Amino acid sequence: MRRLEGRLAVVTGAGNGIGRASALRFAAEGANVAILDMEEEGLSATAEKAREAGAKVLAITADCTDEQVVTDAFKRIYAEAGFIDILMNNVGQSARERASEFYASSSEVWRFTLNVSLMSTLIASRQVVPSMREAGRGKIVNVASNAGMAGEIGLSEYAAAKMGVIGFTRSLARELAPFKVNVNAVCPGVTKTRVIERISDEILEQIRKSIPLGFFAEPEDIAATAAFLASDDSRYMTGQSVVVDGGRWMI
Ligand SMILES: NC(=O)c1ccc[n+]([C@@H]2O[C@H](COP(=O)([O-])OP(=O)(O)OC[C@H]3O[C@@H](n4cnc5c(N)ncnc54)[C@H](O)[C@@H]3O)[C@@H](O)[C@H]2O)c1
Repeated sequence: MRRLEGRLAVVTGAGNGIGRASALRFAAEGANVAILDMEEEGLSATAEKAREAGAKVLAITADCTDEQVVTDAFKRIYAEAGFIDILMNNVGQSARERASEFYASSSEVWRFTLNVSLMSTLIASRQVVPSMREAGRGKIVNVASNAGMAGEIGLSEYAAAKMGVIGFTRSLARELAPFKVNVNAVCPGVTKTRVIERISDEILEQIRKSIPLGFFAEPEDIAATAAFLASDDSRYMTGQSVVVDGGRWMI
């Protein structure tokens, strides 16, 4: 399928995992990609693979929580590549090794998680919304999580941030619907990126047992949904949060 032929897609956090798989899927579907990440090495590897898939690639090393850095990066994208058809807000993470139950948590860790998992989405979206409104077209795909739906012990601020992304998705979708801009979210469950290397085998096995389909997602499973939400195949969907978690959370 080449549903994104000639489109320009921006993917944040494309140096690894779900962001890389999505940038490569977009490229395979005919899009040119502008990719952002704070880790230069992973970003270059994604850029090389996307070029091999035939895409024009603009790779920019940037911390997506820094508004000025992101503003400068998008100025460069508009100048060098033109109108942005698709924005995938993929940057996000839990506090990882600093995560703890709430009673032992600190505001420093909350701020870090809210910045990387929620503010980054607002900051990048603000860069594309004016031009999408003006053009009367565009797709925004936010990466949320299933974390806030069932609730996760030890991940309260991450769950809050990701449910924030869902609320933002719904509200922005209403604001942009009159301009034919679709705004949706994908909510992955446990996905086999470097993130799960930190989780013990025992806990992973417990989680696996709670998944009806009985296995963890590959990043490409999430990328497939992102590509659908970035394409005209989803033109009649907006404000949705599509859960891709092997059936762990059923709506
Ligand atoms: N892996 C999972 O199980 C899972 C589950 C649910 C949701 N998610 C969400 O999916 C998204 C991607 O997760 P992943 O597992 O692919 O992570 P990952 O760590 O494999 O990749 C994330 C990428 O984002 C980059 N990044 C992090 N902070 C950044 C910043 N401030 N500025 C620029 N780049 C930054 C990292 O350098 C990395 O290349 C995140 O929003 C995450 O919360 C992941």
